Amino acid sequence: MKTAIFDLVKIREDFPILSRKVHGQPLVYLDNAATSQTPRQVIDVIVDYYSRYNANIHRGVHTLSQEATDAYERARIKIQHHFNAKHSHEIIMTSGTTHGINMVASGFTSFLKPEDEIWVSAMEHHSNIVPWQMLCERTGAQLRVIPMNIKGELVLESFYTGLSERTRLVFCNHISNALGTINPIEDIIERAHGVGAAVLIDGAQAAPHLKADMQALDVDFYTISAHKLCGPTGVGALYGKTEWLEKLPPYQGGGEMIAEVTFEKTTYAGLPHKFEAGTPNISGGIAFGAALDYLNAIGMEKIAAHEMELLHYATSELLKIPGLKIYGEGVRKTSVISFNLEGIHPYDVGTLLDQMGIAVRTGHHCAQPIMDFYQIPGTVRASFAFYNSMAEVDRLVEGVKKAAQMLS
Ligand code: ALA
Repeated sequence: MKTAIFDLVKIREDFPILSRKVHGQPLVYLDNAATSQTPRQVIDVIVDYYSRYNANIHRGVHTLSQEATDAYERARIKIQHHFNAKHSHEIIMTSGTTHGINMVASGFTSFLKPEDEIWVSAMEHHSNIVPWQMLCERTGAQLRVIPMNIKGELVLESFYTGLSERTRLVFCNHISNALGTINPIEDIIERAHGVGAAVLIDGAQAAPHLKADMQALDVDFYTISAHKLCGPTGVGALYGKTEWLEKLPPYQGGGEMIAEVTFEKTTYAGLPHKFEAGTPNISGGIAFGAALDYLNAIGMEKIAAHEMELLHYATSELLKIPGLKIYGEGVRKTSVISFNLEGIHPYDVGTLLDQMGIAVRTGHHCAQPIMDFYQIPGTVRASFAFYNSMAEVDRLVEGVKKAAQMLS
């Protein structure tokens, strides 16, 4: 299992969960697009926080509070550096991508008029559709959709011709959770900026596979979740350009987001605290920083290279199975394979794979418009992380073959 790219045996030893059994079989965890697994180095950081310096942040003069505040703010700086944001105050700590998107959608309410237009792509997760529909309901603005083709790639012509001074916002994922397509966000951002529109990119699925550069992309907002990046659930970050974050109103009122409070008037804290009401997920934020350290110690390029090997091998082996169809055949793709066996419901395949110890996701993957486009109820989705091995791909392929025999 020692590959030319890195020592996979050693990496797998960092993840305690990978040595467990499911239904008597060694676990093959291929649901990484839903959530990644957590290395010992990150688990230890959480245990250390609760064992040594559990305290509320930004609030106390006592030592524990200061240690917790320092560690939390160091994590913010790690996130800033990882994504090459210009300032640490441009990193708003959130509970995850959905929280970040809702924060921006809510913030734009008073900026939009009924004649304004918002574009979303046809391959969004529900979390990057529903908040914008709600924003349209509040403001009367119109939602328009960038279409996709049968290969699962965006078709940008109608978007380019449809852009106008009425276009105020554009939303797109960097990588589709259901198809694995890497979207041409550089072009989308440049064109949208050409008409003065702001762009939010949902980076939840991209961040585990590549290092997005906020300054090079010149993106206005970018959202991420720690739990897709070997960090804990319930924590994430919203990147926002300073000028936008200064313009947007706070999302929630509460402690820590204020400068001064009287019953007559409240003034708000500066960035990033204006958007961080309430006690945050402190251990989660610190562990998020540790997860980025872990990934960077391996190297995002090496991670991507190994995942590409897994993707190409798994794709070619799965396609040898009669009746198997893959959804998402874009030229630029990451290590996600959505597929169905002809005439067999994805749920049945997923259930049988689970009996063999193989974890995949089945269903619409919170992306119903994609399933409607292909006129299918859902897919079986195998999503690979850097700690997966070629031997695990073989287990998947054997499992799918067995499921095909049993169900046909
Ligand atoms: N968005 C996550 C997924 O694609 C939960 O599974």
